[in-house]
Parts: sequence; structure tokens; C-alpha cells
Amino acid sequence: MPRDASPRRYLMCPPAHFRVTYSINPWMDPAKPVDLPLALTQWEDLRDRYLALGHTVELLEPHAGLPDMVFAANGATVIEGRVLGARFAFAERAAEAAVHREWFRAHGFTDVREPDHVNEGEGDFAVTSTYVLAGRGFRSSPLSHDEAQEFFGRPVIGLDLVDPRYYHLDTALCVLDDAADEIMYYPGAFSPGSRSVLRRLFPDALIAGEEDAAALGLNAVSDGRHVLLPQAAVGLLRPLRERGFEPIGMDLGELLKGGGSVKCCTQELRP
Ligand code: ARG
Repeated sequence: MPRDASPRRYLMCPPAHFRVTYSINPWMDPAKPVDLPLALTQWEDLRDRYLALGHTVELLEPHAGLPDMVFAANGATVIEGRVLGARFAFAERAAEAAVHREWFRAHGFTDVREPDHVNEGEGDFAVTSTYVLAGRGFRSSPLSHDEAQEFFGRPVIGLDLVDPRYYHLDTALCVLDDAADEIMYYPGAFSPGSRSVLRRLFPDALIAGEEDAAALGLNAVSDGRHVLLPQAAVGLLRPLRERGFEPIGMDLGELLKGGGSVKCCTQELRP
């Protein structure tokens, strides 16, 4: 049975100034050149795909000194129009947080919180119908989980990330159906206790294998039907189709050099 898509509103930032000049995750190697025109084309393909699927894409103005701004998912978390701003773990990205908060204030969002604790937005917060799943271990502080729970009034489930390649929750877990608590994830990225928690809460989850995870295949975006994911994660195609989803492989190879792919480039503005 095919699934129903629902229209989404996304916030994205073109990679006009994308470069890998520092390394804050194992994917980033400043010695490896980035093909900027190709990065832009790949990003435009993603944006155009969202538009073709009927979604709305809002744009954030890229800043010259902030080469990771293309990873817009990290700048905030928005649920029911309430905006929990980000506070970045590394100085290199710190200034992005204010740019995001300004964007929200300028676009009619009245409830915008500047957080007390480090959280990297949707990099570490994933929203299902019941929970906010929250990663910790590399970037977001465990204290940010309480802050998010109090702010959103939703149960926040803390999950411990243990493999530096999967430094953000959204590199290891993706919400497939946010109306029904359906997710896919790579167990190897989590501590044994967090794996048990995931098994308990999501017994029917799609379990990704190591190869697809290593292709950053979990860094995907679903509208309830279409699942946009890195094209190299071919092992996910069949299980997604068997569940009634329509997987769409995207080539974001240049952005992978920064340690991000489809989801990292996409912040969801939940109404
Ligand atoms: N270079 C960026 C960083 O290390 C990549 C962020 C990817 N974003 C994400 N949502 N996982 O912070």
C-alpha cells in the first residue's frame, strides 16, 4: 500500500560559501578539495526535488565566514511553530545560531528561545508523533534534553551516540512517518542501553546495515511517502519500498565531504 505524503515547509541555505577548512567530524578532511559549483548543483537538485513534490522551501542567506551554514538542520528545532534555537558545540559554527534566530524573528515566529545549553538543532533532535528523540555524546549536551522537554512539552528520549562517524543523531536515525512513530536507524551508532530503548519504543523500526549507514543513508528526509536519501545507500531501497515508501536517491557527494547529506541540509518548520 502506498503511503500518503503531507506537504512540508523546509528551511535551506545554499552552499554558496561551502568549504572544508576545519575538521570537526571524521568526514571532514581539509586536504580534500571541494568542487563548489558541483556542490551548488547537487544542493539545487535537492531543493528542486522538494519543490516538485509540492513542498515549500524557505531560504536562509549564506554568510561568507560560515562554511557549514548549508547544514541548515543544525540551526534550530521547530515544533508547532515554537522555535528552540541552537547553541553550537564548536566555535567555528557558533555564529550560525544567531543568523537562524534572526530569520525566525523576521518571518513571523514569535516564540523563539535562545537556549542555555548546547544543542545542534535537528542534528540531534528528531520528532516523532509521541517523542522528541535526542542524541548526545558528541555535540548536544544532555542538559539540552531537559531544556527541550520543558520548552516543547513533549517527552524527550535521550540516546547515546558512541561512534564518531555518527556524531549527530540524524546521521544514524531517520523518522519515516512522523504521524505514527515509524523510524529507521543503525544500531551500531548507539550504546547498548540506547539500543534497548530503541527496540522497546520502536519494535517495528527499519534496521539499517553498516554499509548503508556508512553511506550516510540514514541522513534522509521523509514526507510520509517519499524518502529522499543519499543515493549510495542502495540497501535501504527495498525495505523502504516494502513498507510502501517511495525512496528517491540523491547525489550530495560534495556535501558529504563536510559530513552531511539530505537531512543535514534540511530543517523542517513544523506548523
Ligand atoms: N560539518 C558539519 C558539522 O560537523 C556537518 C553538519 C551536518 N549536519 C547534520 N545535521 N548532521 O557540524
